[in-house]
Parts: sequence; structure tokens; C-alpha cells
Amino acid sequence: MKFFVDTANVNSIREAYSWGVVDGVTTNPTLISKEGRDFKETIVEICSVVDGPVSAEVVNLDAEGMVREAREIASWHKNIVIKIPMTKEGMRAAKTLKAEGIRTNITLIFSPNQALIAAKAGGMFLSVFVGRLDDIGAESMGVIRDTVDMIDTYGFDSEVIVASIRHPMHLVESMRAGAHIATIPFAVLDQMFKHPLTDIGIERFLADWAKVPKG
Ligand code: E4P
Repeated sequence: MKFFVDTANVNSIREAYSWGVVDGVTTNPTLISKEGRDFKETIVEICSVVDGPVSAEVVNLDAEGMVREAREIASWHKNIVIKIPMTKEGMRAAKTLKAEGIRTNITLIFSPNQALIAAKAGGMFLSVFVGRLDDIGAESMGVIRDTVDMIDTYGFDSEVIVASIRHPMHLVESMRAGAHIATIPFAVLDQMFKHPLTDIGIERFLADWAKVPKG
């Protein structure tokens, strides 16, 4: 499973990338706005840190506007993938962009039907938002399982991104579902490393090592 880090904070990205397990980055307008910085400057800096796909989202709602915006954003750096919302206009834009060789990440997917449409439209990544489904009491991981199965059954090139991750158990469930990618907030990625028995184990090994006679 590939790990993307779900933030636009360059310091967090730099740190997470240094751990050696991060394959890419996802941003969205909310994450960009939290940083209070220029959009282009932020995305280009992220691309200079991470050698992998960096998702940047369009804000136009009509296909022509999305395509125009996507062409401009994609020209900033080779790592950029364009995030397109799961709408009819978005799918029209995704099809055009695919024909031009611009990679897309179809965002705001909440059902297997939407994922199927996004795969047919040529989305390279299909972002299914599990946390937001959980928030409304819907069964989020079933959508991940169905989407992974759908891709296998029909042989689409698309990869499923588990998005809107809120806690480490989402990762365990994503793993069980065979998801291709998880996009993880920095704090959750940090939590994934931790286990009290690891800390206790290191402490004991060091205490015992101190008793070993050294020549
Ligand atoms: C990822 O691509 C999404 O933008 C992100 O995971 C959304 O997460 P949220 O539901 O916590 O805003």
C-alpha cells in the first residue's frame, strides 16, 4: 500500500518524507487555505520535497474551466496530479485531461457507483472519503472493498485512495480491503509508528545491554 500524506504543510511533509515511507501528497482547498500561503508557491515547494504524485485541486465547477485550470496547474511541475470533483462536469474534464496526458485524482467519491464512473472517465486515482462517510453513520469500508473489487474485476488502471482518514484503525481496515493507497494526515501517520511494547522493549534491551561486560 502506498502512503500519501494529506496536508499542505511543507514542514510536516518534509518530516514525514524523511521517514522513508511516504510516496506522495494530497492537498485540497481547505488544506491550502490553512497554510495562509500562495497556492502555486506551496504546491511547487511540495513538489521539490517529494518525488511522487502531488495532488492539487481545481476550483472551477464547469468542465471548460476545470480543464483550463488543470492545464495551468499541471504545467507547474511534473509531479502534479489534478484533483477533480466527482460531478458530470468533472468527468467531462477528466476525460479531456486524460487524452492530454494530464493525470487526475477524482475526489469526493462516496459510493461504488461514483467510483465506477470515475474509473470509466479515466481517473488515475479514485479518492473515497471514509471519515466523512463514518460521520453520517454510513458503512465506509464497504465502499473501499467494492471499489477495489470493481477495479480488479474490470481491469481498470485506476488506484483507490482511502481519503478522509481519521485514525490508525482506518489504515488497518484499508489494508484488509486491499486498498492501493491511503492518504494520511500527519498526526495519524505519526501515531501509526507507536506501540507501548516497542518503547518498553527498547528500554529493556538498553538496560540489559548496559550490564554486558565491555572490553
Ligand atoms: C484527500 O484527498 C482529502 O482531501 C482529505 O482526505 C479530506 O479529509 P477530511 O474529510 O478530513 O477533510
